[in-house]
This record gives sequence, structure tokens and C-alpha cells, in this order.
Amino acid sequence: MTLDEVRAALAGVRDPATGRELLADNRAEPRLSPGELVLGIDLISPGYPLRAELDAAVRAALEPLCGAAGHTLRIEYGLRVPSKPARQDLNRLPTVKNILAVAAGKGGVGKSTISVNVAMALKQFGARVGLLDADIYGPSVPKMLGAPARETTTTADGNRIQPAIFRGIPVMSVAFFVEPGNAVVWRGPMIHKLLKQFLEDVEWGELDYLVVDLPPGTGDAQLSLAQLIPITGSILVTTPQEVALLDVRRAANMFSKLEVPVIGVVENMSHYTCPACGHHDNIFSSGGGKALAHDLGVELLGQIPIDNRISFGGESGIPVVEAHPTGEHAVALAQVAARAALALSKLSATGPKRSSLLRTLS
Ligand SMILES: Nc1ncnc2c1ncn2[C@@H]1O[C@H](COP(=O)(O)OP(=O)(O)OP(=O)(O)O)[C@@H](O)[C@H]1O
Ligand SMILES: [Mg+2]
Repeated sequence: MTLDEVRAALAGVRDPATGRELLADNRAEPRLSPGELVLGIDLISPGYPLRAELDAAVRAALEPLCGAAGHTLRIEYGLRVPSKPARQDLNRLPTVKNILAVAAGKGGVGKSTISVNVAMALKQFGARVGLLDADIYGPSVPKMLGAPARETTTTADGNRIQPAIFRGIPVMSVAFFVEPGNAVVWRGPMIHKLLKQFLEDVEWGELDYLVVDLPPGTGDAQLSLAQLIPITGSILVTTPQEVALLDVRRAANMFSKLEVPVIGVVENMSHYTCPACGHHDNIFSSGGGKALAHDLGVELLGQIPIDNRISFGGESGIPVVEAHPTGEHAVALAQVAARAALALSKLSATGPKRSSLLRTLS
């Protein structure tokens, strides 16, 4: 068996997510050793949801060759996340490949909970992740990560800010710079200056993803803040009922104005399962997230139930994906992270259509 034969057998094998050939994209690298063919494959996203499909396609292409040559086949999966800055003119973060904004039409729907757990899940999947709490009105990310109030330092030359690091995730938050409860009295220009510094003067390091918890709402303040940040794609968080959906549609319009693709919808507090009797209750009616995702032409990234392990994760400073990683809530949140990451990578691989940014995944 020769490497040329291996490459010939692999020629038609495509990434099922993008439809692009592994070899043409330099994502597959075969190596031969006595009695063994090792194929290194760089996946396009952490927690890649179509891995079983890709694995089967690769094995189907290579196993006849290996069988004939008496070689075993070993596949080694790695991760190389593509990047596509949303707006070149806003590219203030050259070391950050993707900025994933988490947004909602209104407060209290679980935006910070989703931000924190998605960031931790991406980290668990092996990605390099940072977390920016841009919610100037209610910065809650540090508390959700069990962080003391002020943790940042400056670099040796005094010119750059080192973010706080929590469980391997660099974090910046308005909460580090104000006394608790004071953030709301800040004037717009001060907030803008601070957020600009968070983007330009912070040593984020090499990141695959910077997850940004945006402030709730769709007013001018939110619009101008969202404009400061070169967002690659955004997730919209909603609860299932109609009134919440009206607000979140406004948020979708805001991103459309900013030419930021909405990559998916998360329906939070989707339902409640009684731990004692197993009864399933749709507290806030049902189906809203699915309807919204359908209307926007994007993916429903997940339906997260109401559960006190999720709220306790926020209170205790240990997010549920870390506290109970194999529990169904953690798995649902990790799935949101994996699907969102894949959606971003697909954007990079295929590019959004400018005229229909809200329909990139349809
Ligand atoms: N799926 C869930 N199950 C149980 N509790 C949840 C769930 N999602 C969020 N919560 C709780 O609901 C409250 C609001 O959530 P969170 O702070 O994440 O919302 P938010 O949209 O960021 O709110 P804000 O607008 O205040 O920033 C928190 O106490 C959180 O722990
Ligand atoms: Mg919040």
C-alpha cells in the first residue's frame, strides 16, 4: 500500500457538514507505518456532531485497501477551527477566530446561563475559549463562575490587561470594574470605552471562540454595543411563550441590520419534568423556539428544561456542564455548544449570503 493509493481512495470523501473534500481542504493526513495506516483528521468544530457519519465514510473508503494490504486502520481526530471575521473593518481581535454572541430580546431568559455553559462545553470539547461579559446592566458571568469580584492584572509593561482565568477560560466582565450594583449608572461613552478596551487592550491569546454575553433588549444602547464587537454569529435565547418571541424577533432584526448572521435559537425553560413523579409539564406553553427557528430559517440548537441543577449551577459558581457533565441538562447544553460551533464553521466554509443573512442554515 502506498500513500498515493490511500489518497486516491480518500479522494471522494467529503465532510458531511460542508460537503467539501477532506483532502482538498487539507483536513486529512495519512501516515503509513509497518502494518498500520494512521489517518489524522482535523475536524472543523469541537464536539463535531456528525463524527459517526464521517468516520463511517472514511472507513468505507479505506478498509478495502487496508484489508487487501493486511494493514489496520487507525483514525486520529484533531481540531482545527476555521475563522471568518464577520466584518473585516471591525477586526480588532486578530487572535480570536470566532466571536459567538449570545443574545435575547429581553432579560431573565437565561442568556448568561447559556453563555457560561456553552463556553465551558466548548472548552470541554477541546476548543480554546474566552468569555466576555458585555452585559453592562447585569454582569453576572463572574458570579456564575464562582469568581471573586476583581481578578484582572496588567501585563509586565503595564499596557495590556490580562483577563481573569477561570477553569482555563479567560474572562472579562464589567463586574470587575464596578462596585456591585453600580454598573447601571455608567454613562454610555464610559461603557463604550470600557468595552472597546475589553476588545483591544486585553490579552485574550489565541482563541477558537470568544463567547459574548450581550445585554438584553434591542434599544439603541444594545445596537451600538453590538456594533462595537465584530460578531461572527449570534445565538438567540428565548423562552417558549409568544410574548417572549415578539421580543426575540426584534433582536433578530437588530442583527439583520448589523449584518450579523443569527446561527440558531435556544429555547430555554422549555419544559419541566417533576423529579418525584416524572410528569412532564410545558410551563410556558410549547413549540415557540421551534416556530421562531423555522421563521428565521435557522437551526433550533436545543430545548433546555427548567431544572434546579441548572439554576444551582449559576448560584454555586460551578456551571451544570461541569458539575454534572453526564446529566441530561449538561448534555443538552453541550449539544447547543456543538451545534453552534458547527454552524459557525459552516459559515466560514461556505460563507453567508449577504442578501439573506438570516437564512444561512436553511
Ligand atoms: N433552564 C433553567 N432551569 C432553571 N433555572 C434557570 C434555567 N435557565 C436560567 N435559569 C435561572 O434563571 C435566572 C435567570 O437566568 P440568567 O441570569 O441566565 O438570565 P439572563 O437572560 O442572563 O438574565 P439577565 O437579563 O438578568 O442578564 C437565573 O437565576 C438562572 O439560574
Ligand atoms: Mg445575564
